[in-house]
Amino acid sequence: MKLIVAVIRPERLNDVLEALFEADVRGITVSRVEGHGGEYQPMETYRGATVKMELQEKVRLEIGVSESFVERTVQVLLEAARTGAVGDGKVFVLPVDGVYRVRTGERDQLAVTPEPRHGEVRTDAP
Ligand SMILES: Nc1ncnc2c1ncn2[C@@H]1O[C@H](COP(=O)(O)OP(=O)(O)O)[C@@H](O)[C@H]1O
Ligand SMILES: [Mg+2]
Repeated sequence: MKLIVAVIRPERLNDVLEALFEADVRGITVSRVEGHGGEYQPMETYRGATVKMELQEKVRLEIGVSESFVERTVQVLLEAARTGAVGDGKVFVLPVDGVYRVRTGERDQLAVTPEPRHGEVRTDAP
């Protein structure tokens, strides 16, 4: 299990969500955040020049996936979130000790797989 945390541009969110859906990636949490990626904005003070960290609006995605979904999820994010300009963001891949579905108590792979629709048999769980 991995938790993929991505910080992306808000204007790329719709395309990223669509691309994740096409890749069969389902469970996701989206937060509006502010971030700084290393660009410094000079600021004058009476004591002389100093700097401050200017914050940009970003979107943070959290996606819990089983091992077989890690690579495709990262690839989708790298492609769909990219503009090529500074500030496109970052993708972090974190180890996860366990995931539990609150409703059923299922854990790990079963917990990150969407419930099958009525009458549908769950086969290769992501
Ligand atoms: N080391 C980091 N840790 C956490 N978030 C980061 C880190 N570096 C960048 N970010 C996030 O990514 C956003 C996009 O900037 P960045 O990834 O630095 O783009 P680029 O590398 O193209 O300059 C930042 O505003 C910040 O929210
Ligand atoms: Mg940067």
